[in-house]
Amino acid sequence: MANKVRVAIVGLGFGSEFIPIFQAHPDAEMYAICRRDRAELDRVGDQFGVAKRYTSYDELLKDPNVDAVHINSPIPDHAPQSLAALRAGKHVACTVPMGVSIDECRQLVEAQRKSGKTYMMMETVVYSREYLFAKDLYDRGTLGRIQFLRGSHQQDMDGWPGYWPGLPPMWYATHCVSPCLAILSDPAKGKVALAESVVCHGSGRIREDMIPKYNSPFAIETATFKIKGTDVVAEVTRSLFDTARQYRESFDVTASNVSFEWQQVENEKPILHMRGLPEPEIPRRVSVPDFAGRLPEPIRKFTGAIHDATHLSFLQGAGHGGSHPHLVHNFLQAVLGRQPAFPDAPTSANWTMVGICAHESAMKGGERVQVPAL
Ligand SMILES: NC(=O)c1ccc[n+]([C@@H]2O[C@H](COP(=O)([O-])OP(=O)(O)OC[C@H]3O[C@@H](n4cnc5c(N)ncnc54)[C@H](O)[C@@H]3O)[C@@H](O)[C@H]2O)c1
Repeated sequence: MANKVRVAIVGLGFGSEFIPIFQAHPDAEMYAICRRDRAELDRVGDQFGVAKRYTSYDELLKDPNVDAVHINSPIPDHAPQSLAALRAGKHVACTVPMGVSIDECRQLVEAQRKSGKTYMMMETVVYSREYLFAKDLYDRGTLGRIQFLRGSHQQDMDGWPGYWPGLPPMWYATHCVSPCLAILSDPAKGKVALAESVVCHGSGRIREDMIPKYNSPFAIETATFKIKGTDVVAEVTRSLFDTARQYRESFDVTASNVSFEWQQVENEKPILHMRGLPEPEIPRRVSVPDFAGRLPEPIRKFTGAIHDATHLSFLQGAGHGGSHPHLVHNFLQAVLGRQPAFPDAPTSANWTMVGICAHESAMKGGERVQVPAL
């Protein structure tokens, strides 16, 4: 491999957000893009000045100049495309979730081990500035002992096309599962917290016409899961349809000294709770700092933490809590062997399988389901 990682991005809706970041990263060459629609492919290629373009994913995988693919295709394609890439000897970054079945996760972990290539699920939440803030407070000992974790991801997907209508809410649960496990992990030291078993209840009912596609009736799925080797339990809640709730991606850490809550309403500042009196004066809203200093200078602006609202609102790539440049950086460093991918393949599988096992549990009326160890 050349000293720059030659990257191809597949799927150019969400995927196009990452093009300028790879272009600016000193360790990457933004080599190729791929989508099936020729006109749309050319539009994006011309916009960003990417010369190498593929309408066929299979053809892209035959290109020996491609070191790594970043997959941003629809959910059902994630696992088959990731598997094909690993088997073609490419490093893989793939948007969430890793797959939609235990079998897909198992195959991917096996393929990654066999290939020796990097696999990383590009989970935005664990690189968002709010999560990084909570993680930093925990690592510095400010929070104290973690007593309980809670994640929630509510999104109204009405009107979204294709595979979305009727999708079991927990099949797309990594945004709320991942921070609960990541905060107890220290990948640089080889310590990764994994879920052991899950109990989930389904609640309410979506419109009848949406139910048959996945045979999943629930409007809300809410699960608790045990974290291996700890006494901590996490709770996660998900909804996709027929639920009146503004978009919420939230993560709460309840701890012995200081607790952290993110967020009630989108764009509100997170809250810290301290112990003590007087009670009404305890909750304190905090401005979350900028973690751009952890990144190479040319991609720092993509955290969106530049205090220039006009500039920010037009800065492509700065979404999801400033996570995108952190994801790109971590992936490239993993490919170059400088640090572990986080999440790596087994961790991505565990985060994804919590949701798959949770839905299974809900369909069995709340039976405990073991998350397979891969
Ligand atoms: N926060 C996050 O992590 C986050 C946010 C948004 C989207 N996503 C994920 O990103 C993925 C894409 O989302 P989107 O909103 O851009 O969807 P989309 O349907 O708008 O775009 C999918 C893209 O994939 C392309 N595509 C589909 N099949 C392909 C194939 N066989 N070969 C090459 N290209 C193919 C399509 O042409 C399109 O460009 C989804 O899985 C979604 O869940 C994650």
